[in-house]
Formats: sequence, C-alpha cells, structure tokens
Amino acid sequence: MDIIFSSFKLKDFNLKNRIGVAPMTRMSSPGDSIPRQDVLDFLVRRAKNGAAIVYTEAIVTDYESAQGYPGQARLTTQRQIDAWSRVVQEIRKAGAVSIMQMFHCGRIGWPGVNPANRIIAPSAIIPKQDNALTGSPYPTPDAMSLFDIEHVTHGFVETAKGAIAAGFDGVEIHGAHGYLINQFLSAYSNQRTDAYGGSVENRCRFAHEILQAISRVMPEDRLLTFRISNWGVVDMDVSLFETKQEYQQIIKLLSEEPIDAISVSTYDYKAKAFGTDQNMARITREVTRLPIMICGKIYDRNSCEDALKDADIVLSAKSMLLNPNWVGDVRAGKQLPIYKSEEADIAYTKEPLP
Ligand SMILES: Cc1cc2nc3c(=O)[nH]c(=O)nc-3n(C[C@H](O)[C@H](O)[C@H](O)COP(=O)(O)O)c2cc1C
Repeated sequence: MDIIFSSFKLKDFNLKNRIGVAPMTRMSSPGDSIPRQDVLDFLVRRAKNGAAIVYTEAIVTDYESAQGYPGQARLTTQRQIDAWSRVVQEIRKAGAVSIMQMFHCGRIGWPGVNPANRIIAPSAIIPKQDNALTGSPYPTPDAMSLFDIEHVTHGFVETAKGAIAAGFDGVEIHGAHGYLINQFLSAYSNQRTDAYGGSVENRCRFAHEILQAISRVMPEDRLLTFRISNWGVVDMDVSLFETKQEYQQIIKLLSEEPIDAISVSTYDYKAKAFGTDQNMARITREVTRLPIMICGKIYDRNSCEDALKDADIVLSAKSMLLNPNWVGDVRAGKQLPIYKSEEADIAYTKEPLP
C-alpha cells in the first residue's frame, strides 16, 4: 500500500493523503493585518496541487502584545474574516482541510512591533541570544499577571471565533518554537512560583485553560490541534524539556485535552531526542493515541514514508514553499533537494511565489 497517498480519518474529515502544508509566517500584512493577495493565493494553490491539509501562517491573537514579527496577520475584524473566508472556500473546493494556526509571541516580541508596545512572558527573563532582526537584546518582558493571563486567553478565544466565522475546518494552538505557550511549558522560561509554574501540571495550566476556553466556543464539527516542539527559534540549542519523561508527561496531559491531533515540530524528523535512540514522533507516539503530525526535513518520497512510520501525517514547510509541485513530485518519486534555511527567506519578499 502507498501509505503517503492513503486516506486518513482525522475526526470527521477524510484526508485524501498524509501530506500537509506546515504553518508559515509570511509577514505580508502591515496595516490592516490581512495577508497580501498573492500570499493567500499561495495557500489555495498548494491545496489545488494536492496537499490534504493547509495550515495558515501563525495568526496573532491580539492588538496588545501577541505580535512577534512585522506585518503579521490577525483574524478578528469583519474585513479580516471576509478575506480568509474566500481562501477557506477555495481550499475546500480543492478537496483540502484548512486549519488556522494562532500564536502569541511572548518574550520574543520587541517594542514597535505591537501597537501597544508591550512585551509579556511567564517570567521576566530574556533569551540569551540577541534578536537577529533588530540586532539588539530582547527587552525584559513583564511577568504576566493573572489579569494578563485572562486577557491573553481571551485573545485566543476571539481569534478562534474569527476562524470559525471565516469557515476554517480547524484551529491550531501554537505551543511550539519558544513562543508564549511554549514559554509556559518549559522551565527554561517559566520560573513562576504560582499555579502556572513549577510542576509540569502547573506549567501546562496556561495551555489547558486556553484549550478549554476555545473548546467551549468550537462547533463540534471542527478540529482543534496543538503544535509542540522541544526547540525554540531563539536559543535554538536549548532542549526546552529536560528529559524524555518530562516531555512525555506533557504529552500525556495534552492528550486529556479536547484536541484532535498533536503536531510535533522538529528541525529534523530523524534526529534522536533526549539522549535516546528514538525520534520525537516515536517518543510522542509512546504515550498518546492522538493522531500525530510530524515536520522537519521531510523532503521526498523516502523521507515521507520513513516519517510516517512514527506519525500519521507529514507536514512540510520549505519544500512546500519552494516547490509548487512538491506533492506531485513526491508521488512521482522524483529526486528532490533538502532546502536550506536561507532559501526560505524568499517567504518574506514581495515577489509572488509560484
Ligand atoms: C518561512 C517560514 C515560516 C514559518 N512560520 C511558522 C509559523 O508561522 N508557525 C509555525 O508553527 N512554524 C513556522 N515555521 C516552521 C515550519 O512550520 C516547520 O516546522 C519548519 O520549517 C521545519 O520544517 P521543514 O524542514 O519542512 O521546513 C516556518 C518556517 C518557515 C520556513
């Protein structure tokens, strides 16, 4: 059987194959927080060209402190909802499932990016590494008060409502890559002494509250997914979870949430994790029955097949970005390149991508 092009039942959705477009921020939405038309068209084209799932870029959850990069998109005004609604309809017409990913950047923000100029995080700790885009250290964030926690949770719920109004098939909480939710999960950035810090249960509380609040507004026929990673975009070398046991405890707690899949983001799906001889997908699979998506250097037929030994769905970012015919090329078993990180910078140019 051709596992890559076999169908998969994700809740009530019959995916036509096991390949999805990973979430990719494009920074094309200055002003009205609506992506450029060619950036929206790109997602529709990837659906037409065979992807079974299309993720949006990370959508920012409020106008206060959530934005982490210039020109990110939001989904709370009627104009924003209308713009995405057209995209969602076309993705559906092409036979693919659309999922809106949303995020709050937490301590990865900087002044000037957010309209309110505010930077917040679980604790007032900055990353070791400077901000590559500004050339300066990240500013010290405000440790979030309980009011802040409630406000941010509300932003996730409002943005989920925007996605529901736009007709998205699903919503994903970005709990990966060292952004706010990941900052709460990891003791590296969460040194709180209240109910949101300390034990694994406490560090999961913020994600738990957001997932519960969203599930209360989600219609039964939509998907809710959670993305996690053991690495962040800043201080990349740091293992955000100290041991396999700690990571698995988090996965077990997440598995009790009303989510339909866990998306595991790695830099290389094959890489052995936590000093074991297992990759992240296998370590995740050991402790959950939820469908697993895996991402990271999956670039051709062999790597898709291999990655699907430990996961149900493969996501690709760079190959999807740079090769409009990637799904067809995988099906044909073509020899394909592994794209380098620098090649992905094309995502941020004004030139429409094929
Ligand atoms: C241009 C670009 C933008 C990205 N933006 C996001 C994002 O908004 N949300 C997210 O979860 N990951 C984002 N990522 C990470 C990818 O989804 C993916 O996890 C990573 O690139 C590894 O997959 P790959 O080897 O197939 O590129 C981005 C990656 C690229 C290249």
